[in-house]
Amino acid sequence: MTDLLAGRTAVVTGAASGNGRSIARRYAEEGADVVVADLREEPREGGEPTHDLIAAETDREAAFVECDVSDPAELEAAVEAAERFGGVDVMVNNAGIYRPENFLESTEDEFDRLMGVNAKGVYFGAQAAAKRMVAAADERDEDDPQPSIINMSSAAGIRGEGRLVTYSMSKGAVRLFTYALADTLGDAGIRVNAIHPGFVETAMTTQDVELVGTETEARMSATIPSGRFGQPEEVADAAVYLASDMASYVTGESLVVDGGMTS
Ligand code: NAI
Repeated sequence: MTDLLAGRTAVVTGAASGNGRSIARRYAEEGADVVVADLREEPREGGEPTHDLIAAETDREAAFVECDVSDPAELEAAVEAAERFGGVDVMVNNAGIYRPENFLESTEDEFDRLMGVNAKGVYFGAQAAAKRMVAAADERDEDDPQPSIINMSSAAGIRGEGRLVTYSMSKGAVRLFTYALADTLGDAGIRVNAIHPGFVETAMTTQDVELVGTETEARMSATIPSGRFGQPEEVADAAVYLASDMASYVTGESLVVDGGMTS
């Protein structure tokens, strides 16, 4: 622990499980108070709820807010919940869903559901946070934390995948949204960046490995220069960097955390 995020309040969507859970825990370890915004309280992979773990592991504040990111009003409420800790400084739009598909058979409902979470959820999460960050700009001193928005894209948002057509589309949208938003919010002193993980060991990939089989998983690992899947903690370290002053001149950036898979 180095207090890289001391004095900050973060809202992390999808933080009950996986990457979001690791990000929330790392943020608290680095001195941030955290709002965990998720559909569910219990981690998909099992274990204690994230906010309880943070309370047990650190001296930081943590709260859980039930939130479906495909509903902008629920995102507003999640960001509003950060007011009790002094207001949002860091917004991590991490919640996402994954759906292997056969393009020729995909339905409108399936498309709308995935885009509603992965693209619309990121858009309105960023908007809810940015409104408050812009409103707070006049009261910000030079020494106050610089506000930051981090959007979770994917390696699939760089190099689309044939069995993940809608997912790739949603993550590509997040990538370009991030560039555009960095430009729009730059004058307000808000940095906006994207993280692009490759295969990371979470419930999302466990579910996928069950689908493709362990042999295919071994083949997938062999195509990754690092020779293995990543860990959620490795994604969380990237999220700490982007939220911290170490990244004070980094905005509109795509930080790829994929063991070299797309390089
Ligand atoms: P996960 O499935 O382990 O956890 C996702 C969390 O998001 C769950 O707690 C779930 O309840 C929550 N969530 C789902 N829909 C939601 C909604 N509508 N509103 C609020 N919360 C919702 O997934 P994982 O792996 O942690 O993924 C997190 C992000 O990282 C996603 O955006 C995913 O696309 C991205 N990612 C993951 C990769 C991986 O290999 N695990 C690779 C690249 C990107």
